[in-house]
Amino acid sequence: MRDLLPPAVAVAVAGPDDWSGQLHAAEAACLGERAVDSRRRDFTAGRVCARRAMVALGLRPVAVPAAADRAPVWPAGLVGTITHTRGYCAAAVARADEIRAVGMDAEQHRELNPGVRRLICLPEEDEQVQRLPPGIHWPAVIFSAKETVYKVWHPVVGSWLDFHDALVHLDPDAGAFTAQISPARVADTRVVDPPTVISGHFAVDANLVRTAATLTLR
Ligand SMILES: CC(C)(COP(=O)(O)OP(=O)(O)OC[C@H]1O[C@@H](n2cnc3c(N)ncnc32)[C@H](O)[C@@H]1OP(=O)(O)O)[C@@H](O)C(=O)NCCC(=O)NCCS
Repeated sequence: MRDLLPPAVAVAVAGPDDWSGQLHAAEAACLGERAVDSRRRDFTAGRVCARRAMVALGLRPVAVPAAADRAPVWPAGLVGTITHTRGYCAAAVARADEIRAVGMDAEQHRELNPGVRRLICLPEEDEQVQRLPPGIHWPAVIFSAKETVYKVWHPVVGSWLDFHDALVHLDPDAGAFTAQISPARVADTRVVDPPTVISGHFAVDANLVRTAATLTLR
């Protein structure tokens, strides 16, 4: 993830011990006592990584509770993002006076089943996939890019974004993507200067698709 984000963003990727690290009381309260072990481990690794990223920014590591909708609640003055998928977890944090929003997503690199693919991809994206080089499950990259887009969009705008509300264009040579947000969704927001395009980078290896994006300050 480090290579996918600008230097102003601190990134931490979980090591083997982080999945069984310590939670702050405020975080444990959000997780709840009845969380299954896999959920507890993912949640814990995300919080441990978030604190390591704060330290990398020169800040005191503090708790990151979760809102009722599970969005992380970053301390005042910070923006951040967390992702986890089987065997991989990362968090990224930046100062809010340097970066408006940051999003990151990791997914398994595999074929999407046709039903999921229809839910995720617009017809224009399906056409694009036909023209992209073979060897990569491009719909999985589009899926991950859209999850990243949502993680950038939601903290700024506060509203839902459906998978068909963003049209993703992939540039395989640059490892970059842009997501055009549907004009109707943009018009429906109440924030000043809502994002209309969210741009980021992606990387794919045998196991994982990783995507990340930031929104810069104007
Ligand atoms: C929220 C969502 C994007 C998470 O993605 P995911 O692939 O399921 O899971 P990941 O492991 O990558 O990310 C999970 C983390 O996202 C973060 N997250 C959850 N809700 C969030 C929100 N509204 N905004 C930002 N981050 C959020 C949390 O930190 C969570 O980890 P935690 O519960 O351990 O703290 C996804 O579950 C979702 O609701 N998607 C539908 C909306 C969407 O993606 N629309 C596409 C628009 S183009």
